[in-house]
Amino acid sequence: GVSSLVRVTPSMLKFMNGRKDKETGKMKDAWSAYQGKVYNISPYLPYHPGGEGELRRAAGKDGTKLFMEVHPWVNWENMLGECMVGILVTEEQAPA
Ligand code: HEM
Repeated sequence: GVSSLVRVTPSMLKFMNGRKDKETGKMKDAWSAYQGKVYNISPYLPYHPGGEGELRRAAGKDGTKLFMEVHPWVNWENMLGECMVGILVTEEQAPA
């Protein structure tokens, strides 16, 4: 539900790049922003028709431009609804 959505800042998004965390040694989930909404794309990586590597190019970033360059006709909101984790906000709008 909406109440569980996270306010994601650009720095949080950058951190969630799907790579190994230097401190814990554990793999982080890969998050990407699409038109202001932030998704955990990790569960979808093996299913992306364009390949995992292509989808990973948008990990930890806003992928809207890349996405629109390749396949503007794809309805990611339908496909990734379950994977939505939050909304993109500015650093100033972050919770204290
Ligand atoms: C193909 C979904 C992000 C690159 C596809 C297709 C889908 C899809 C459904 C098949 C499209 C078709 O056959 O008409 C998604 C979703 C994304 C995403 C849900 C976001 C979460 C990206 C990004 C890139 C990318 C960020 C590039 C950096 C590609 C490529 C193909 C593809 C190269 C193959 C196109 C082809 O076969 O001609 N993707 N995609 N995708 N996607 Fe994505």
